[in-house]
Amino acid sequence: MGILTGGGDCPGLNAVIRAATLELLNAGVQVTGIERGFLGLMRGQMRRLHTQEVDDILDQGGTILGTHNRADPFHDFARNGADVSAQVLACARQAGLDGVLAIGGDGTMDIAARLDALGLPMIGVPKTIDNDIALTERTFGFDSAVAVVAEALGRLRTTARSHGRVMIVETMGRYAGWIALEGGIAGGADAILLPELPFEPQRVLQCCQHREALAGSLGHDGSTLICIAEGCAPAGGSMTVAHTLADSPDPVRLGGVGERLRALLEPHLQSEVRTTLLGHVQRGGTPTAYDRVLATRFGHAAARLAVQGRFGHMVALQADACISVPLSEVAGRTRQVPPGHPLVEAARGLGVCLGVA
Ligand code: F6P
Repeated sequence: MGILTGGGDCPGLNAVIRAATLELLNAGVQVTGIERGFLGLMRGQMRRLHTQEVDDILDQGGTILGTHNRADPFHDFARNGADVSAQVLACARQAGLDGVLAIGGDGTMDIAARLDALGLPMIGVPKTIDNDIALTERTFGFDSAVAVVAEALGRLRTTARSHGRVMIVETMGRYAGWIALEGGIAGGADAILLPELPFEPQRVLQCCQHREALAGSLGHDGSTLICIAEGCAPAGGSMTVAHTLADSPDPVRLGGVGERLRALLEPHLQSEVRTTLLGHVQRGGTPTAYDRVLATRFGHAAARLAVQGRFGHMVALQADACISVPLSEVAGRTRQVPPGHPLVEAARGLGVCLGVA
C-alpha cells in the first residue's frame, strides 16, 4: 500500500500515517510513503515506511511525507496542464503498489475518485482544518484550528477590554464558516460572521455602537470582539481575494475581509478598530488530543478497508461512528454551515450578532 498526503497540511496528518502504517504492517502489508502528495506518484518519489519511521510522530504537526497543493495527475502544472494519469498508473504498478491511501481535502478526494475509476485502487481519508468535506461530520485538523481561534479570541478580549476597542479576528475556512462558528463560540465573540450568511455592515456597526454606548455602565468597557471567516462577503458584495495562484486546480486564495470590515466600521465609531489575521498559525503545530484520536481512528479504519480490499471509499465520521462512503459520492462536493444549524441558533440565542436579521 502506498500512503500520500495531498493539498494543504493540517495537524493530525502524521497521526493518520502512523496509525495506518502500524495497522498495515501488523497485517503483513508492506507500506510505501509517497512524497509530496500526487507529485511523488507523478515523479516516482517514494520510500518504504517501517515501524521506526512512524513510531514517534503521533503529536508532530505537518506531514513527514511532505505535500503539494498543485500536483494533479489530470492537469500537470509542470507540463502545460497535460493529463499524465496513465503515467501515474504505470508508476504505481512499477512500484508494486496494490492501492493507495490518499489523505487530503476535497481536491485530493476528487483526484482519488478519478484514479480509482481508472484502475488504481484508492482509499480516502478526509483532512482539512476547514471541516468542509462532504459526507463526514468532522475532519481531523479542524479541532486544532478551532482551539487556536478560541485562544486568540481569549487573548484579544483582554486587550480589547483594556482599551475599549473593537477587535476583528479573521479566520481561515475557505468557503465554509465552520472554523469561525466554533472558534467564535468557544472564544466568546460578540459577533460571528460566516460566508453562508452574507452580512449587512449596518448590523455589525449597530452591534459595535450599542456596545460603545454601554461603556461605563455596569462595568462595561464598550469593546467588541468580532470573528469573521475569510470567505465572508457583505450582502450583495464579493469575497475578498488575497491572490490567485497560477497553474493550481484551486487557484483562489482568500484573505483580507477583516481589514475591509475595519475600514467600513471605523469611520462611524469612537473606538479604535484593529484587525488580526490568524492565517497559517491555524494550520501549524501539534494536533489537539481530539484530533489525535480522530486521526488514529481514521488511519486504523482506512488500513482495515485496504486489508479487506474495499477500495473506492473514504472513511468518514457520522453520528460518532467511523464508517466508509463511496469516493464517487464525495468528489466534487463540499459541506457548508446550514443557516439553521443548531450552533448558529445557539449563537443567535446568546445575542451574538450574525450580521443578518
Ligand atoms: O483548506 C485549508 C486552507 O488553510 C484554507 O482554510 C485556506 O483558505 C487555504 O487552505 C490556504 O491555502 P494556502 O496554504 O495555499 O495559502
